Amino acid sequence: MAQRIEVEVSTPYPVVIGSGLSVAEVLSGMMEPGVAAVLTDSQVGPLHAATVRRDLESAGWRVAATIEVAAGERSKSLDVYAEVVRELAREGLTRDGALFVLGGGVVGDLGGFVAGTYMRGVSLVAMPTTLLAMVDSSVGGKVGLDLPEGKNLVGGFVRPRAVLADLDRLSTLPPREISNGLAEVIKMALLSGGDYLEDLHLIEAARAGDPEALHTLVAHSVAFKASVVAEDERETGRRAILNYGHTIGHGLEAAADYSLPHGEAIAAGMVFAARLSRDRYGTDLVKMHENLLRRAGLPTRPPAFDLEKVLKAMGADKKRRSADGAAEHRFVLLKDAGHPVWDVPMNEEEVRRVMETAGG
Ligand SMILES: NC(=O)c1ccc[n+]([C@@H]2O[C@H](COP(=O)([O-])OP(=O)(O)OC[C@H]3O[C@@H](n4cnc5c(N)ncnc54)[C@H](O)[C@@H]3O)[C@@H](O)[C@H]2O)c1
Ligand SMILES: [Zn+2]
Repeated sequence: MAQRIEVEVSTPYPVVIGSGLSVAEVLSGMMEPGVAAVLTDSQVGPLHAATVRRDLESAGWRVAATIEVAAGERSKSLDVYAEVVRELAREGLTRDGALFVLGGGVVGDLGGFVAGTYMRGVSLVAMPTTLLAMVDSSVGGKVGLDLPEGKNLVGGFVRPRAVLADLDRLSTLPPREISNGLAEVIKMALLSGGDYLEDLHLIEAARAGDPEALHTLVAHSVAFKASVVAEDERETGRRAILNYGHTIGHGLEAAADYSLPHGEAIAAGMVFAARLSRDRYGTDLVKMHENLLRRAGLPTRPPAFDLEKVLKAMGADKKRRSADGAAEHRFVLLKDAGHPVWDVPMNEEEVRRVMETAGG
């Protein structure tokens, strides 16, 4: 059964979760068929683009182009962005066209930015194909690109017309990518606490591909994220909690030249954040984090990293200067499961200490 969760921002949009969803059915009554372009990546395209094309065409859409970018984080770049918008221009996609973005968070962030900027904006329909994209990146409107200087440094807020999370697409996803998605699921559960945290007993079933377990975890994450986003779409306050584990995680990603998957980076980032939380508030959730991440098949510490590079990249991400000029980072910490605090200033020395003594 398909489930529909509304993201209640000023122009609301639905996230539809189910198996074997038809784009045409979901969009009927919301969008008139017209000219479409499909953006995907080199791994997802051969597996799923033909089905999407057929589905759109049978509903009366004309698919002007299917654009494939190289799979992987490096496609979230200015160069690839330029190639994609130029291709749309060559194919003659006009302002009333629609971009269907089929892929994981990389294609989602890139495609959302394309849809928001090409001809000052064309309609966007998000079709996330990774667990990570279904539970997190396709909801909330943040889109963007990386720079060599740091992650997500160019971007915007672009609302899709609809998000179609078709769980069937997960059947082709490699196990490591299921684990990466579970990193964001665990993040969301630690932030929300309560029933959602309890539902993490479904981690093993989800890894085994159980459709009900996947549905439950996706629906919980989407509902939680949608409620946070509805309250603070532009991240002037509480939405920042969704960056739990990301301050250090993004630094690790950039320092590794984006060869470290996002999910694995934030898994390590959350363990560091749990240590910082323990130092600051005395609640020890480190073991709990490690157990959950291990069960999800995720590492609890990053591969060897260059600390100075990580701190520098974190600087580009979120660093501020305190009044006395000392380097300072802003963190999301947990006072307890379900009790996040955000915008917590941490001086660089505290961060350095926790990252140097990754053992305790
Ligand atoms: N915008 C946001 O709010 C937000 C939130 C979280 C993460 N993100 C971003 O999302 C990105 C990570 O997303 P991701 O983990 O989905 O990475 P991804 O898009 O690179 O996908 C991971 C890999 O899986 C492949 N793949 C995708 N779907 C598949 C399928 N159904 N079958 C087989 N292979 C498939 C891809 O080709 C890729 O190789 C990062 O750039 C991160 O910054 C954005
Ligand atoms: Zn993330």
